[in-house]
Amino acid sequence: MTKGKFITLEGCEGVGKSTNLEFIKAYLEAHNIPLVMTREPGGTALAEQIRELLLESRTESISEQTELLLMFAARSQHLKHVIRPALAAGNWVLCDRFTDATYAYQGGGRRMDIKTIEWLERLVQGTLKPDLTLLLDAPVDVGLKRIKQRGSLDRFEQEKLTFFENVRRAYLLQAELNPKRIKVINANRPLVDVQQMIIELLQRFMP
Ligand code: TMP
Repeated sequence: MTKGKFITLEGCEGVGKSTNLEFIKAYLEAHNIPLVMTREPGGTALAEQIRELLLESRTESISEQTELLLMFAARSQHLKHVIRPALAAGNWVLCDRFTDATYAYQGGGRRMDIKTIEWLERLVQGTLKPDLTLLLDAPVDVGLKRIKQRGSLDRFEQEKLTFFENVRRAYLLQAELNPKRIKVINANRPLVDVQQMIIELLQRFMP
């Protein structure tokens, strides 16, 4: 069986990731693509526990290095138990965030050394990278307004505006460095236009 495609969806908080994930899932399933939908951090029982450790607000602060290592620990588990087996079996994998989020949040937001992230990426992933990454992009204040309406905020969502501006800038830099793989979608326009663009990009990968 041919290897499935690995699609990731990225973006800052409140850009409409969840709505568009559901849209992509429905679109692929309507085209009879065998699909595994998953997320990071998380995707296995252990990786979901790591997610809780990462997202919960706590009195003991999490060091930037601990945060980075936990992201990759969860990813290692996720790759071994979910992503690699699913792709090998010919499924497509649709993942809500992946390593581009580490470049954006830990690299851009936390200002961690990019070389360290690259080193961990090679260690954990080898040569595996997504086939296509859809980056939903919108001004940071637009997204933050949306998440504040949702109620309680997790440890990342409580960060300041400048943190998210750095995250957004790092995401866009990743897209500039990987133009073939990462496609930037302007998410600050009507949903139908966003979804039309998503369909056009997905169609290039359809069998
Ligand atoms: P979300 O998936 O609900 O958006 O929440 C996950 C949070 O984790 C989000 O704020 C981004 C953050 N994150 C990182 O900081 N680094 C990573 O590598 C990943 C996958 C997520």
